[in-house]
Amino acid sequence: MARILITSAIPYINGIKHLGNLVGSQLPADLFARYMRQRGHEVLFLCATDEHGTPAELAAAKAGKPVAEYCAEMWQVQKDLSDGFRLSFDHFGRSSSPQNHKLTQHFAGRLAEAGLIREVSEEQVYSHADKRFLPDRYIEGTCPNCGYDRARGDQCENCTKQLDPTDLIDPRSAISGSTDLEVRETKHLYLRQSEMRGQLNDWIDSKTDWPILTTSIARKWLNDGDGLRDRGITRDLDWGIPVKKGEAEWPGMEGKVFYVWFDAPIEYIACAAEWVDAGKGDDWERWWREDKGAEDVRYVQFMGKDNVPFHTLSFPATIMGSGEPWKLVDYIKSFNYLNYDGGQFSTSQGRGVFMDQALEILPADYWRWWLLSHAPESSDSEFTWENFQASVNKDLADVLGNFVSRVTKFCRSKFGEVVPEGGEYGDAEVALVAELQGRVDAYQAHMEAMEVRKSAAELRAIWVAGNEYLQAAAPWAAYKEDPDRAAAIVRLSLNLIRLYAVLSEPFIPDASAAMLEAMGAAGADWPDTVGEALAALPAGHGFTVPDVLFAKITDEAREGWQEKFAGQRG
Ligand code: 2FM
Ligand code: ZN
Repeated sequence: MARILITSAIPYINGIKHLGNLVGSQLPADLFARYMRQRGHEVLFLCATDEHGTPAELAAAKAGKPVAEYCAEMWQVQKDLSDGFRLSFDHFGRSSSPQNHKLTQHFAGRLAEAGLIREVSEEQVYSHADKRFLPDRYIEGTCPNCGYDRARGDQCENCTKQLDPTDLIDPRSAISGSTDLEVRETKHLYLRQSEMRGQLNDWIDSKTDWPILTTSIARKWLNDGDGLRDRGITRDLDWGIPVKKGEAEWPGMEGKVFYVWFDAPIEYIACAAEWVDAGKGDDWERWWREDKGAEDVRYVQFMGKDNVPFHTLSFPATIMGSGEPWKLVDYIKSFNYLNYDGGQFSTSQGRGVFMDQALEILPADYWRWWLLSHAPESSDSEFTWENFQASVNKDLADVLGNFVSRVTKFCRSKFGEVVPEGGEYGDAEVALVAELQGRVDAYQAHMEAMEVRKSAAELRAIWVAGNEYLQAAAPWAAYKEDPDRAAAIVRLSLNLIRLYAVLSEPFIPDASAAMLEAMGAAGADWPDTVGEALAALPAGHGFTVPDVLFAKITDEAREGWQEKFAGQRG
């Protein structure tokens, strides 16, 4: 039995996530966590909300709420949705937690002691009316390049020129419109990650088994002169983790907070402390400190490709630079993007299907199956309603659902709601067991390797094999001449339902639970061998016919949704 620490990139607090976000980290992480638990490993699976930074402040302002209140409410919304999608986090934390405040300040203190932080004086625009600095898009004005009068502090939308807030002509606050502005010197902390280029390079070089997507992004940033330049890790914002050196004040840094990308990954660690403080575990350092029991932990991170630089360079630089034996990630599984019907999913434009909307339409398993079986692994992939409909109707309704329904109903009508006795297994059964054993072995190997699409394809093939067997063995025909033969086929098929439930649990946990319950086999373990698993339910074992597991999506429903989700979210 191994110990496996799994984290999913922590979603921004500002708003409900779309299905592209979901399939890019949380859902595949859940697949892996569920599988590893089923295989008997000790798993700690963590996620949280990413609550700091300008997007959180702006979203709260838009909602007309104090930012702390807004974050608390949105945390609950995101938590309920992750429960709705059956994401099996051991803890869903918050990057604004006291535990993260303490740890983030601790890391900053350690980095400072190691000489890895320098103070830099910068010019920033300050607004008297708003009583704050106006970084990036908090400021607007006339573009010095093209004269467009609504250019933002970071870029002119009209001519695309990259700007600094101090470049703008006639600048005004994007918050209040005030022009009572002044350029002030302000000090910020920079993480000297450029000092760690050699160490980071060697570390990435040692990761020969990592997905190409992950290492190619890391190497591009390492080798590109700009990629590892020292970065500001503080901001002039109100909401965030106050800049401190451990528990001590940091002279000159009063009123400043850490940059969201500095504290967000530290929340992976703090989340484990939250898990303990919530009474769900008793020792978090045993997962995170190599001097306190974590040396045999395998740590796997899941994330979208845009997050890779932060997880291969900045966060490791924080960990390494601390000089303390914190656990470094052992494997990073990253994903490309999921597109939506010929374009991109977009939170800002409300384009695509969002987690709450998805669950209003259909149960979680339908989405989980489609998203995971089409995970954007080797390239971007695309959600279309036609494809979704076809996948649900074929894989879930025709193949798996239909098998369960036919077998249980046939048995009930001929033998009653018990596993029938009589008859022997013959060549067809031996061949099926052999085929399934090969497929289950392959499925396990793919799941172990986090090959999400290949795992889904193999699972589907396992379902198909049962269907083909049933079709060929035709117990309904055999029953007339040889009821014992029909009994043997049905006995095997009922056991197959139990086996399918166990194997499918990581993908479709609700259907799996319904199948196990119907088979009177709740809590069934992962099979040692297919042969044994297919003898688990003995003759005489009671079962019930489950409700329809998966309803087909009609053309009418699909067209309705297509239309409903064509525009922007209201
Ligand atoms: O891209 C995002 O959604 C970020 N909120 C991910 C942060 S992951 C980590 F740093 F915690
Ligand atoms: Zn311009």
